[in-house]
Amino acid sequence: MCGIVAYLGDQEAYPIIIEGLHRLEYRGYDSAGVALLNGSLNIYKKKGKVAELEAFAKDKDLKATVGIGHTRWATHGEPNDINAHPHRSNDGRVALVHNGIIENHGTLKKALQELGHTFESDTDTEVLAHLIEEYLNRDNSDLESAVRKALTKVIGAFAIVVLDRENPDFMVGARRSSPLVVGLGDEEFFIASDATPIIKYTNKVIYLKDDEIVTIDRKNGYEVTNIENEVQEVTIKELDLKLEELEKGGYDHFMLKEIFQQPATIFESMRGRINALEGYVRVGGLDMHLNKIKNADRFVIVACGTSWHSGLIGEYLFEELARINVEVEYASEFRYRNPIITEKDVVIAISQSGETADTMSALKLAKEKGALIYGIVNNVGSTIARMTDAGSYIHAGPEIGVASTKAFTSQVTILSLMALHLAFEKGTIDKDYYRRILTELENIPRKVEQVLKADTQIRYIAEEIQHANNALYLGRGYNFPVALEGALKLKEISYVHAEGYPAAEMKHGPIALIDENMPVVVIATNVSAYEKVLSNIQEVIARKGRVIAIVTEGDTEIKKIANYTIEIPATVDPLTPLLSVIPLQLLAYHIAVLRGCNIDQPRNLAKSVTVE
Ligand code: G6P
Repeated sequence: MCGIVAYLGDQEAYPIIIEGLHRLEYRGYDSAGVALLNGSLNIYKKKGKVAELEAFAKDKDLKATVGIGHTRWATHGEPNDINAHPHRSNDGRVALVHNGIIENHGTLKKALQELGHTFESDTDTEVLAHLIEEYLNRDNSDLESAVRKALTKVIGAFAIVVLDRENPDFMVGARRSSPLVVGLGDEEFFIASDATPIIKYTNKVIYLKDDEIVTIDRKNGYEVTNIENEVQEVTIKELDLKLEELEKGGYDHFMLKEIFQQPATIFESMRGRINALEGYVRVGGLDMHLNKIKNADRFVIVACGTSWHSGLIGEYLFEELARINVEVEYASEFRYRNPIITEKDVVIAISQSGETADTMSALKLAKEKGALIYGIVNNVGSTIARMTDAGSYIHAGPEIGVASTKAFTSQVTILSLMALHLAFEKGTIDKDYYRRILTELENIPRKVEQVLKADTQIRYIAEEIQHANNALYLGRGYNFPVALEGALKLKEISYVHAEGYPAAEMKHGPIALIDENMPVVVIATNVSAYEKVLSNIQEVIARKGRVIAIVTEGDTEIKKIANYTIEIPATVDPLTPLLSVIPLQLLAYHIAVLRGCNIDQPRNLAKSVTVE
C-alpha cells in the first residue's frame, strides 16, 4: 500500500529511486512520482505505473544526489497526476512522500485554509506537507523540528520522507503504523518501505519503530529520535536477502516463479524443524511459552485474505491433531465486535507481509486483553513480527506477485508442524499416525514437484474454460479452505467472479447457478468424504455444469464422470491442502494469462495493505 524510496549520497539519486520503485510496485501501482533536490526542488509525477513516470521524466532535469520517490495505491483522491506523490507545500519549499492515512486531514486542512493555504490535490497527504511548511515558517524552525511538531498534530498512520529546498543535504523520515527501513551504505543512505530497494547497495538496515524520526545529514550521518526528541538506541540488522531472490529468474511472471518455487520453499519452512526418522518435530517459537500455549483455553487465529484461508486449515489441524479449540477471525472484523479474549487465550496472527493494518489492529486489541500473541510471518523484521510475544518465520523468501501462492503453502506447513509439536507434547496423537504424518510431510516437496508436472494439462483446461464469467469451487474438510483459496486466486488475477463453498453446502444455494456455462472445480481427494463428494459431482453433472476435479492418483470413479481430472499424489488427509492448492494456483494463472490480465499487479489490489 504505497511504496517509498529515498536516497542521499554521492551517486545519482534518480536511477536508484526508479529501480527501487519498480521493486516496490507490488505495494501499489496507480501513479508514481519523484522529487529531486539540486538547488531547486524538481517534482515529476504521473498517473500509471513507474514505467510511465520514467517515460514522462526522461527529458527532464534529473541531476541530483538527494531525492524521494513514491508508488501509490490510492486511498484519498482518484489516481491522477495531481494526486500522485510527492506532494509539495504551499510555497513549494517542502516535498513529501507518504504511505498511510492522515485520519484528521479534514480538520487540519480547514485550519490551514483559514491561515491562507490553498490546496492542489484531493489527498490527505498534501495537508501534512502544508502543516510542515507552516511550522517551518511560523517558528523559523529547522525541518526536523517542523516535522516533529506536525506529527504531534496528526492522527492516523504514516511512513513519510520529507525534503526541504532550503536544506539540500538533509532529509527526514518518520513512521507510525506504516513500515520504514533505513539503509546504511558507505557514505550514502536509503530510506524505503522495505529492504528490497536497498539490498543492492547495502545489507545494513535499521527498522524504524513507531513514532521514531530519522534524520539524514550528508555531513553528520544519521540519527534516530522519538517524537519527544529523545535520541533512540538502534539495532543495525544485517540482512541475508539476495538480489536474485527479487528477480523473475527466467519465468514470465513472479507469480509463476513463486508457484514453481514451492517444493523448495516448503522445504525451507521445514528445515531444521522436523526429522521423521527420529520422530522429531520442533517449532522453536512454541518452546518459549510451551506451557501457556499447550494449556491455552483457545487459539484465536486472526488474518486477512489468503492468510485467513491458511488459518482455516490451521483450525482443522489444531483441532484434529492437538485437540485445541480454535476460532478463525477476519482481522478486520475482530476488533469491531468487542471479542471475548482472556489471558488464557493464544492469539495467532498469520501474515505474509507482516504489515497488514487490520491484522495489526487485531493484535493490539488482543495484547491489551492480555492474550499471548504468536506470529506466523514471512517478512523478516516486519511490524507484526516485532509486535508478537513469540512466533515462527515461514522462510518462504520474498513473495512479489500480488496473489499469494508460496506464502500460503509455507504458512500451512508451519501450522502442520505446530499442530504436530503440540499434539506430541499433549499426547493427543496416536504414535503411528504421528510418524506417518512426519514422513509424509518430508515427502511433500517431492510430491509438489510431481503436481507441477500437470502444468501443460492445466493450461489446456484453462483454454477450455477461459471465457466463463463465473466459477464455483467446492471442497470438504481440509479442502474446503482450499476451495476458498482457489476461488480467491481466480478472482484476484483474472477478474472472474468465483465462489468457494463447502461441497455439501452447494445444494443450499449455489446449485441454482449451475448450467452449461458454469465451470465447477471440485477437490475430490479426501479419503474420508470421497463418496459424499462423488454425489456432489453427480449433482453438478445432472445440471450440465462442467466439472474439473482434483483427484488422488489412480482414481477411477470420478474420472469416468468429470469433464477434466487433475491427479495429485496420495497423502494423509491433513496434508492434502499442500498438494491440492497447486493445480488451483496454476489454473488461475493460466486463465489470467489467456484473458490478458496483469498477473503480478492485478487491478485495484496491493500486496501489503497498510490501511484499515
Ligand atoms: C492483500 C494481498 C493478499 C494477502 C492479504 C493479507 O489482500 O493481496 O495476497 O493474502 O493482503 O496479507 P498478509 O500480508 O497479511 O498475509
